Amino acid sequence: MSAELRKSAARFRPATSEPRLAARPPRMIPVGGGKGGVGKTFVVANLAVSLARMGHRVVAVDADLEGPNLHTCLGLAKPPVSLADYVAHREEDLGKLLLDSSVPGLHVIAGTRSNLATPQPGHARRVQLIRELRRLPADFVLLDLGAGMHPAVVDYFMVSDDGLLVIAPEPTSVENAYAFLRAAFYRRLRLAMASHDVRSLVTLAMDEQNERGIRTPLELLREIEALDPSEGAHFVETMRAFRPRIVINEVRTAEDVKLGFSVKSVCRKYFGIEAEYLGYVSHDADARKAVRGRRPLVDLSPRSDASNYLRRVARKLADLPSARG
Ligand SMILES: Nc1ncnc2c1ncn2[C@@H]1O[C@H](COP(=O)(O)OP(=O)(O)OP(=O)(O)O)[C@@H](O)[C@H]1O
Ligand SMILES: [Mg+2]
Repeated sequence: MSAELRKSAARFRPATSEPRLAARPPRMIPVGGGKGGVGKTFVVANLAVSLARMGHRVVAVDADLEGPNLHTCLGLAKPPVSLADYVAHREEDLGKLLLDSSVPGLHVIAGTRSNLATPQPGHARRVQLIRELRRLPADFVLLDLGAGMHPAVVDYFMVSDDGLLVIAPEPTSVENAYAFLRAAFYRRLRLAMASHDVRSLVTLAMDEQNERGIRTPLELLREIEALDPSEGAHFVETMRAFRPRIVINEVRTAEDVKLGFSVKSVCRKYFGIEAEYLGYVSHDADARKAVRGRRPLVDLSPRSDASNYLRRVARKLADLPSARG
């Protein structure tokens, strides 16, 4: 081990102060968005710090093994262990991956890969990982997701019904956010449906060009109701339970702020689902400075507008009941 790595390993050793055993499972908050570079990692880092400073026990997990950088935003230079060790079966105990951060109550599971040949977790390993994450002694487990709509990313988003969607006020981000929601929603539906025929119908509807002409979830619902009314009722339940939460990041104008409301209304009209507009975060030139200095913005410039908005989103998250109770 190089001297530098030894120094870093000593600074960022696995957590020594084992948190108390949780009385109830942590709230899982996956943070996705479809598009890259919209601020998912920035939002996770700052929400994690804000929630911890409010007195909650928080674990921030970098689930983006393709481009891990959450550890950097939280001040950890070279994590000695990471989720990649769990994926490669080098470590079975997630508790041993918890790294201390400089913020009391906040632990980090990094996503760095020392071996690029380490595979991405397959479905079975992901299910196992999610089960273990739910056992962590924490109040909140935040998952920083990668870009895109790979089934792995979408699966992580579905660990709860109220995942957080980060959207930047630009058409490409909005477009990708809808595509991401659509993928997550259909995947969720397919898992929820018991009947084979109905599941096949959902699979068919996942193809926007399908020959039955099912273009929206509401049209799919009509077809399912005709095929099997009890599955139709189940479909409606699943739709109601799914309550993604929206954060608009890098807001510069009043128009940008309004975007959250229009996304919410498109979700209702197109998907028949009630998204929640949790809040927005202003564009802040110090955000890049914060990343360069490996400090979250809420610590670097706690009185800035963006920090106030981030803390407001954190407070709302803490106050809201989780969708699955
Ligand atoms: N509110 C903001 N104001 C200014 N810059 C921001 C803001 N939010 C994020 N940024 C900057 O945008 C860049 C991308 O942010 P970030 O890495 O969090 O995106 P991401 O969605 O996680 O990307 P990826 O999908 O590649 O992981 C960073 O340099 C970050 O500092
Ligand atoms: Mg990221």
